[in-house]
Order: sequence, then structure tokens, then C-alpha cells
Amino acid sequence: MSHTVQQWLQTARQQLAQFVPPDEASMEAQILLMHVLNVNRAWLIAHATDNLTDMSITKVESLLQRRLQGEPVAHILGSREFFGLALKVTPDTLIPRPDTETLVEAALAKVNGRMRVLDLGTGTGAIALAIARHAPHCEVIAVDASTGALAVAQENAQALHLNNVQCVQSNWFAALPAHRFDLIVSNPPYIETDDPHLLQGDLRFEPISALASGADGLQDIRQIIAEAPDYLNAGGWLMLEHGYNQAEAVQQLLNAQGLRTVETIKDLGGQPRVTIAQWP
Ligand SMILES: C[S@@+](CC[C@H](N)C(=O)[O-])C[C@H]1O[C@@H](n2cnc3c(N)ncnc32)[C@H](O)[C@@H]1O
Repeated sequence: MSHTVQQWLQTARQQLAQFVPPDEASMEAQILLMHVLNVNRAWLIAHATDNLTDMSITKVESLLQRRLQGEPVAHILGSREFFGLALKVTPDTLIPRPDTETLVEAALAKVNGRMRVLDLGTGTGAIALAIARHAPHCEVIAVDASTGALAVAQENAQALHLNNVQCVQSNWFAALPAHRFDLIVSNPPYIETDDPHLLQGDLRFEPISALASGADGLQDIRQIIAEAPDYLNAGGWLMLEHGYNQAEAVQQLLNAQGLRTVETIKDLGGQPRVTIAQWP
């Protein structure tokens, strides 16, 4: 059966709307078709009445079926855009979230000259690579415990020609040389292990080691805050992304550890998302 661009988008949107909100359904249908045709959104609009070839329909239908089975769009495409960078994404990595751009902006606001920056739990490399791109004089170390994630981060750094990033496999600070940093950033796992959201939506397809962190979700944040003072230069900053309801607990942990200038920053949705603090 032949389909125009517009007809296919409409049918796909109806099917997707059975399990995602209507505006997302519309966007996802477009993203899948743009990927198969290798065109942009303006092309889809200008060519709405063009007929799709049988081969394009077969390809895009197979992607649509995967999405209808719940597979995240970023896994189907194998990439996700973050802070203007096209990043490879695999089932070994967290899919970078728009909320995390708040952490990158907070970090870039403190960058001043040639700083040494550490990104703990780098995943695709999202935070480290965004900082490396926008602060080319900084030396960035990107750490992850997962071999699979670190390989993706390395590949992304190479694809983006970012030579000021070094990827290191480490359990948080454990394998790092005895260097101090001017800026330590992290979006660590921070979901409670029994949170039912872990069994829903895209989270089902992401590594549990990237998401869950003990009964209260703060196990990794606690460890990072406890060890950070040994790796921060005087006046250096620690910046942590956390759950919308964890700001108070994170602030208390930072104060108890002797950090100062503690401040929480809201994400684009108005949720307290990133807490920053300075080592005396
Ligand atoms: C929430 S994901 C963040 C990924 C990426 N920074 C981002 O914002 O998209 C947390 C990352 O921490 C890593 N991780 C978990 N436990 C770790 C540990 N003990 N040491 C180092 N990295 C760890 C996971 O493999 C995962 O890549």
C-alpha cells in the first residue's frame, strides 16, 4: 500500500499516541521518518504529499515496531543530541537528559582559564564533552566504572575531535592519580533502588548501575561528597545533579563535609536539580 509522507506520519502518530503523550507521539513519528529518509523537519513539511518508496516504508515501519515495543528512540537511532553535540548512545549508557544541561551551564559559568575538570560517571561522555567543547583550554578527565560506557565516551570524544578529554576507568576516585581538580562535576545514579519508575518507560532499557543508588538514592552522592575534598583544589567547585526531592539532603551532606557557598540551581522545569559547593 502506498503512503505519502503526511499519511505515514498520521498513522504512526495515532499508534504512538497509545503510549506516549500526543505531542511526543507526533515528534517521535517525525524523528523516525527523518532518520530513515536522512532529511530534516523542513523537508518533511515541504514534501508532505510525496509518496514514500516501498523500501523507506519497510525501514521506517520496522523502527516504528521497535518503538511500539517500548525501546527508547535514542537506542533505535543509536544517538542523542546533548548541548548541541550528537552523541552515540548504546544500552551500556544512560541516555543523556535535557535536565543535565543545567549542570553543564553551572560548570561553564565557573570556568576561568585553564582549569582541571573531573566528570564522575561520564556515561556517553555528555557532561565532559560539552565542557571540553565550550572550554577548550580546560583539561577534562572523564571517569566511569563501566567498560562499555567508557568505550562509548571515548568514541564520542574522538568523533567530536575533542583532544582535551581523557577517559579513565575507575570506581569513583579510586583509580585516579593523586591530582587535584578545580571543578568536579557528576550526574551520579540517584534513584531509590525500589522506585517503581525503574520498571517503566525508557528506564527499563538503561543500565541499572547508571540509575539506582541504595535505599534512599543517595549512596553514591554520599561517597562522592565524602571523598571530594581530597581531590579539590582550594576554592575548587563540586557540582552534583540529583533528584528533584534530594536538594536538602545533598546540601546537608555538603555542609557537614565542610564545603561552603552551597547553592541549589533549578532545571528548566523549575525543579531543584543541581547543587554546587566550594572547597575552602
Ligand atoms: C546517571 S548516569 C550519568 C551519565 C552521564 N554523565 C550523563 O549525565 O548522561 C551515571 C553514570 O555513573 C556511572 N557509575 C555508576 N557507579 C559508578 C562508580 N562506582 N564509579 C564510576 N562510575 C559509576 C554509571 O556507569 C553511569 O554511566
